[in-house]
Amino acid sequence: MKEKIVFDNLPRHIAIIMDGNGRWAEKRNLDRIEGHIKGIKALRSVLKSSLEFGIKYLTVFAFSSENWQRPKKEVDSLMHLLEQYISAELPMLIKNKINFNVIGNIEKIPYSAKRNILNAIDKTSGYSDIFLILALSYGSREEIINSAAKTALDFKEGRIKNLNAINESVFSSHLYTNNMPDPDLLIRTGGEERISNFLLFQIAYTELYFTKTMWPDFERKNLISALKNYEKRIRRFGKIKV
Ligand code: IPE
Ligand code: IPE
Ligand code: MG
Repeated sequence: MKEKIVFDNLPRHIAIIMDGNGRWAEKRNLDRIEGHIKGIKALRSVLKSSLEFGIKYLTVFAFSSENWQRPKKEVDSLMHLLEQYISAELPMLIKNKINFNVIGNIEKIPYSAKRNILNAIDKTSGYSDIFLILALSYGSREEIINSAAKTALDFKEGRIKNLNAINESVFSSHLYTNNMPDPDLLIRTGGEERISNFLLFQIAYTELYFTKTMWPDFERKNLISALKNYEKRIRRFGKIKV
């Protein structure tokens, strides 16, 4: 029996940069793709634990706009794994009433994987309690620039009447994350302490948690450590704690 864990102060939205798959594999003299396969298992387990703890939004960085520059063999394998992952997970998403969505430029994703993604989005679009968001072919600068262009178009075509009406809410509505709350906690595994073009606009006041644990080794107990660490944070949002 798993011990029941009680958290005082649970993040509503966790974002994760799932990094370290390649190094995990290389250290074991395995092909990098083996690290990605193990990484998918880690994602399953973390999603399960987030459900157990009552996390409402989980956004995971699976493939960046810059990751297209990796060798074709690795990119092809990742796209294949993605295709398999989505179709294998769909029954579990439906069973748990999880709304599945994607942020990023999915036009670039090969058709066979994209078809599974669109199907999963469609089949789970009626659920509104728990959200799993996959960042795929995602780049935050690209997202921000697109939002600026869409906001400019709104102005040009008269949907925004004057420049003073351009505010955070208008701008955010053109981001991929429209309608989603900002992440409360961002976890990056794999030891690097950087953001790598992930959710730059959205993490303005997010609590950051970096761990040396490689993503394939990240499991329930690591998530608990991150959540226990978050519990102690005092979020001021620029104000003074009263
Ligand atoms: C993260 O692991 C997964 C993707 C970027 C697709 P990496 O593949 O970046 O693993 P490392 O950082 O090389 O170890
Ligand atoms: C960030 O990891 C992207 C994902 C985890 C999908 P990277 O491995 O691509 O980031 P860098 O290159 O180390 O900054
Ligand atoms: Mg990496």
